[in-house]
Amino acid sequence: MSRKRVAILISGGGSNMVSLVESMGEADHAGQPCLVLSNRADAGGLEKAAAMGVDTAVVDHKPFGGDRAAFETALTERLEMAQPDILCLAGFMRILTAGFVSHWQGRMLNIHPSLLPKYRGLHTHARALEAGESTHGCTVHEVTPELDEGPILGQAEVPILPGDTPDSLSARVLVQEHRLYPAVLRRFASGEREPLWLTDDAG
Ligand code: GRF
Repeated sequence: MSRKRVAILISGGGSNMVSLVESMGEADHAGQPCLVLSNRADAGGLEKAAAMGVDTAVVDHKPFGGDRAAFETALTERLEMAQPDILCLAGFMRILTAGFVSHWQGRMLNIHPSLLPKYRGLHTHARALEAGESTHGCTVHEVTPELDEGPILGQAEVPILPGDTPDSLSARVLVQEHRLYPAVLRRFASGEREPLWLTDDAG
């Protein structure tokens, strides 16, 4: 079996990245990590990736100022060196332009901390609480040019409990992110596109 090469893009602590890399250690997984790339040199996930034996790279967005296209050209050049078949965005905090997205479309996944199509964008946990929702969760989707849209590949739901704060809710959702993203990537790498629906009772 030739395994699909998976590059993971991060900006921070990289807990989702760690769960993806660990899952690809399973012998029958159709994917293998080829690169962890961050737009921030201080992203904690870089050390974690290196400790797991995965190549790392930094393409800092700051020297490019507001020139997103130039940043993305540098990003693509570095990514292409690793010859990925699949890109996983995992807490990568840069908005990507349509040009970059269309280059990778059909091969790029993202995890978003809400039950899309609800709460695209930032501050999803606070917004779900303010709206008085009884459930919340996370979504893995294919990346298309519109922010947090694109075909849904999986969702995991959690209850909202009395007394929840954005932090407590975020922590409950993150546990599910670490189940959902590896499960979806495993399926995606082997060609499965049917959405996966998880509830947190198995967690
Ligand atoms: C997660 O909540 C993810 O859903 C969001 O950014 C956070 C990343 O956390 N997009 P980590 O870097 O994977 O720990």
